[in-house]
Amino acid sequence: MNLKGRDFISTQDWSKEELIAALDKSAELKEKFKKGIPHRELQDKTNFLIFFDKSTRTRNSFEAGMTQLGGHAHFIESQTSQIAHGESPKDMGIILSSYGHGIAIRHDLVPGEGNRYMREVAKWADKPVYNMQCDVDHPFQMMADLMTIREIFGSNLQGKKIAVSWAYAPSYAKPMSVPQGLIMLMTRFGMDVVLAHPPEYTLMDEPMAHAKQNAAENGGSFTVVDSMDEAFKDADIVYPKSWGIQSLFGEPEKALEISKKYKNWICDEDKMKLTKPNSIYMHCLPADRGYEVTDAVIDGPHSVIYQEAENRLHTAKGIMALTM
Ligand code: CP
Repeated sequence: MNLKGRDFISTQDWSKEELIAALDKSAELKEKFKKGIPHRELQDKTNFLIFFDKSTRTRNSFEAGMTQLGGHAHFIESQTSQIAHGESPKDMGIILSSYGHGIAIRHDLVPGEGNRYMREVAKWADKPVYNMQCDVDHPFQMMADLMTIREIFGSNLQGKKIAVSWAYAPSYAKPMSVPQGLIMLMTRFGMDVVLAHPPEYTLMDEPMAHAKQNAAENGGSFTVVDSMDEAFKDADIVYPKSWGIQSLFGEPEKALEISKKYKNWICDEDKMKLTKPNSIYMHCLPADRGYEVTDAVIDGPHSVIYQEAENRLHTAKGIMALTM
């Protein structure tokens, strides 16, 4: 399978076979990293990382990943580049792809903007474009999540129940791309995906439509409920996290006021008792401890957050090595 030159903007853009090949490559590179076996498969290559938002895991997994693969990553902060003066995505795509071998972009804060921006860059770039999180999807996070789930439950995920639930967080209106990415990807692997949220926290139409279709095509199911308890009941995997209200990303104070009605949407030990005994707790991080989740859960026996975060490195490397 030749994936050289391919963009990775949404998991929906790749076939299941291509996604599995990427997971296999990630596992191979994880093993080599753990054993100290050199794997400089991108020697002298450059990946440009453009950030319109903050990051810990994504930036550092891409930067460390490029170094370990023998290449280099350039950190570009949108506000200190000519993007802040209005330089077009077309010019960014053509010019940066003439200087190096890949362009990765995080543009996740404004619904309707980020995915469109990176697809425009990709239209003009003749090198792969990578989505480090947009308004619609967070595909590298999704691949790390799927890798973690397969490491724990095996590759046959048919019938495994995953609860993707909204949770209260006072810090900021988090993007919708993680729950949207989860419902799109996990339905492709035959899982029973249950999405739970209060009425104001609906997701975008396009990922919802993909989730329904993926479930129908892959033998799983996709259900929407309005109760965290209902979603957690007999779940194998729980993924409770906060996200913002689609129409209120420009009005954070109004959104925060509405969210205060739902402070009881917290993942605590009582909620975890509803799940299967060997269930796992996942979160892409950063988590609002004490709000989205109690310390007892996130630091407790069900939590796999550090394995999940580590797999960001291996999946970033796997996909870059296959495509760049
Ligand atoms: N999960 C995730 O994308 O983390 P960062 O925002 O720190 O990159």
